[in-house]
Amino acid sequence: MTVRAVIKGVGHYLPERVVPNAEFEATLDTTDEWIRTRSGIERRHFAAEGETTSQMGAHAARAALKDAGIDASDIDMVVVATSTPDLTFPSVATMIQKDLGMTKGFAFDVQAVCAGFIYALSNANAQIVSGQAKRVLVIGAETFSRIMDWTDRSTCVLFGDGAGALVLEAAEGTGTSEDRGILSVDLNSDGTYRDMLYVDGGVSTTGTAGKLRMQGNPLFRQAVSKLASTAETAMEKANITSADIDWVVPHQANIRIIEGTAKKLGLSMDKVVVTVQDHGNTSAASIPLAMSVGKARGQIKQGDICVAEAIGGGLAWGAVVLRW
Ligand code: ACO
Repeated sequence: MTVRAVIKGVGHYLPERVVPNAEFEATLDTTDEWIRTRSGIERRHFAAEGETTSQMGAHAARAALKDAGIDASDIDMVVVATSTPDLTFPSVATMIQKDLGMTKGFAFDVQAVCAGFIYALSNANAQIVSGQAKRVLVIGAETFSRIMDWTDRSTCVLFGDGAGALVLEAAEGTGTSEDRGILSVDLNSDGTYRDMLYVDGGVSTTGTAGKLRMQGNPLFRQAVSKLASTAETAMEKANITSADIDWVVPHQANIRIIEGTAKKLGLSMDKVVVTVQDHGNTSAASIPLAMSVGKARGQIKQGDICVAEAIGGGLAWGAVVLRW
């Protein structure tokens, strides 16, 4: 018997404050035109003062549980992908567990920056397939606005805050790509790229949270080739080709990276869920946010084959193929 981790529900949360590109023109040497044409971003949401990653994650989790018709008390694992936790510890996942009124099961965070949701999905899948968990909440939640250097025009216009969540449940499958659920995973990292994208502070170094630093142009070039190759590997592992793909759900960093990767995969942009214009780069939250918006728009439907792919600091990158 093959056990599959099947998607039962999806949900998201975006903070109330919407910041259009033009707002940056007052404080930075930048324009709406530059941001739109170089990144595809038109606006992003920023968390309110005092609004935390765990609060946003809990809102998204509630929406996903509602969509699944499952009570929080029936969840036995919570995994949160984040690089912007409320505190150094305890984990955001245990804070969300408490917020949802759960008193059993286990909860922990995963940190793989913008690839975090792929790593968290992989972890949830492994726990379900091994029989350790039956119903899992997988959450991506970030407050990247808190680690921006507001004087650095090459980074601070690119990121946003938000959260998205999936509910996964163990189900019997046949072991073929006809099954619903996660069909394959491909994970990669290479620490030699450390300086391409990092935060210049931390507990054991500066004792501060630090600010995001990025070499945008070299990262751009790495992103397109690594994203296409991890998506291709995940498709091979799932025994499918790009002709079988209904939807690509990419990490939403830059429309030119999204288009370049789709082109390398031989897929038209009609098959790509794009939310970068409205959310900016929300790091580990971007894929579940795009899945939730894609389903709400009527793009992703039950039975569709989706490939999700992401790359972020580390560098860490990976892809998941699933049948919704
Ligand atoms: N407004 C106006 N000009 C700007 C701005 C801005 N906000 N930011 C940079 N510029 C200038 C630069 O200073 C540079 O000027 P110069 O030529 O006089 O030195 C010029 O624009 C071109 O800069 P580039 O960095 O070459 O521009 P590029 O076309 O590469 O676009 C961008 C920059 C958008 C950052 C792009 O490189 C990118 O998206 N990189 C990948 C980032 C990414 O994918 N991150 C996600 C993965 S990891 C994660 O998500 C955490």
